[in-house]
Amino acid sequence: KKIVVLISGSGSNLQAIIDACISQQINGVISAVISNKADAYGLTRAQNANIQTHVVDHKAFDSREAYDKVLADKIELHNPDLVVLAGFMRILTPEFVQRFAGKMLNIHPSLLPKYQGLNTHQRALDAKDKEHGVSVHFVTEELDGGPVVCQAAIEITAEDTADTLAARIHTKEHIIYPLVVEWFCDNKLTMDNSLVFLNGEQL
Ligand code: GRF
Repeated sequence: KKIVVLISGSGSNLQAIIDACISQQINGVISAVISNKADAYGLTRAQNANIQTHVVDHKAFDSREAYDKVLADKIELHNPDLVVLAGFMRILTPEFVQRFAGKMLNIHPSLLPKYQGLNTHQRALDAKDKEHGVSVHFVTEELDGGPVVCQAAIEITAEDTADTLAARIHTKEHIIYPLVVEWFCDNKLTMDNSLVFLNGEQL
């Protein structure tokens, strides 16, 4: 399967997926990595792995629609089977989401449907939650609202801060994101009318 990964920053999830492609856990190839930021460290990770990179800088566009059109065209140059959002910090237009319906995944650092949007770690602390976590979901038009495929949870302790939670959640992300991409590339995972099926069973 051909995969295009979109990033905005460090790209540690991208790295986990690169490593899982190299070890053949994932039966796929990353055709390109695209960033909206020229200084994203994930671009270096991609180049180190000999993966083609593109920067499509949102600041050069007047509207979200115009940006998303160019971004979608750039993705489609690679004709991917799967688009992976890995810390891509942009809200996507409905038109963009529709073009990749059923073949776009995102990772979000909360136990969805809790804490859609930003600052999830602090919000979990403020709410005095006992657990927190991370979700991988199919992308639909609703921000962080598409059907969840896989979650990992961690316990929140009295000593935790937003930073310690972020660090522990990252280690979970690096396990579950490659796993979900593996399932998708093995044709085990599908989305149909917002319903997710894994090995033929509805989740
Ligand atoms: C992750 O915490 C992910 O959940 C969120 O953005 C972060 C990306 O981290 N959507 P990295 O760039 O993969 O290191």
